[in-house]
Amino acid sequence: MGNLSKTKRIIAVIQQKGGVSKTTSTYNIAASAVALGKRVLIADIDPQSNESKTLGVENENAIKKIFRKEPVTPVKTLCKNIDLLPTDKSLSSLIPELISDIDLQYHLREYMETLTDYDLILIDTPPTAGCFISVAGITADYFIVPISSSYYTLQGTQDVMESMQKIRRRLNPELEFLGAFISMYDKRITVDREIASEAREYFGAKLFDTYISKTVKVEESVIAKKPVIELFPNSEITSQYMSLTKEILMRVQEADR
Ligand SMILES: Nc1ncnc2c1ncn2[C@@H]1O[C@H](COP(=O)(O)OP(=O)(O)O)[C@@H](O)[C@H]1O
Ligand SMILES: [Mg+2]
Repeated sequence: MGNLSKTKRIIAVIQQKGGVSKTTSTYNIAASAVALGKRVLIADIDPQSNESKTLGVENENAIKKIFRKEPVTPVKTLCKNIDLLPTDKSLSSLIPELISDIDLQYHLREYMETLTDYDLILIDTPPTAGCFISVAGITADYFIVPISSSYYTLQGTQDVMESMQKIRRRLNPELEFLGAFISMYDKRITVDREIASEAREYFGAKLFDTYISKTVKVEESVIAKKPVIELFPNSEITSQYMSLTKEILMRVQEADR
């Protein structure tokens, strides 16, 4: 196994907007990676803690402890082979400290460097610009950006790319953009097709080939607190998440060469 902690394997899911499928995609990508034999950890650094709740963990705040340098073990979740660093709404009480002491923002990165049990670590982030996005950028090796037509603006996308560029310049030169993906696609809707083609133009080859469809199966799976692969193993949405995850893992492999 050797230098696992040195291997680049941390991916932040970033888009400074809510409702674009960050949380949902994070655990569906995680579950697909598990199906591909990977050991996966999710870190929830959004005080809204939707990821923790969906994975069945409430009122536990490993993330806060990590910022405080207290000992932490990732918790098992309802999903097979997905471990979690959970958070809860009290995480927001740390914002003033995180802003005034940039050193604190490196604690998550340092903690993750000590973890040897995972092949892939995904970070789910809040929908607003601010210190947790900066923590995500500092901690991650790569970031991916979901694009959803209902919330899409070119300006918004440029803002994400610029804030990550700033982090790369000063705080984490290793941070790489892995790609953007269409996260809630309905091919019958003209706007969705237009936005997909605009995103293709903007991101070029960096837009993942797989589009994730908008489907009620995703909402049902959120309610059931299960990834689509467990609830609807033979559905189109499951094969889309599998195929997106393969693309992601392939790009990580290529980037890490
Ligand atoms: N592919 C999809 N099809 C249909 N609904 C989706 C899809 N992805 C996410 N959703 C729904 O959209 C809402 C927002 O998703 P969420 O993952 O919480 O977004 P974010 O984390 O970016 O705020 C949730 O109600 C979720 O169930
Ligand atoms: Mg979310």
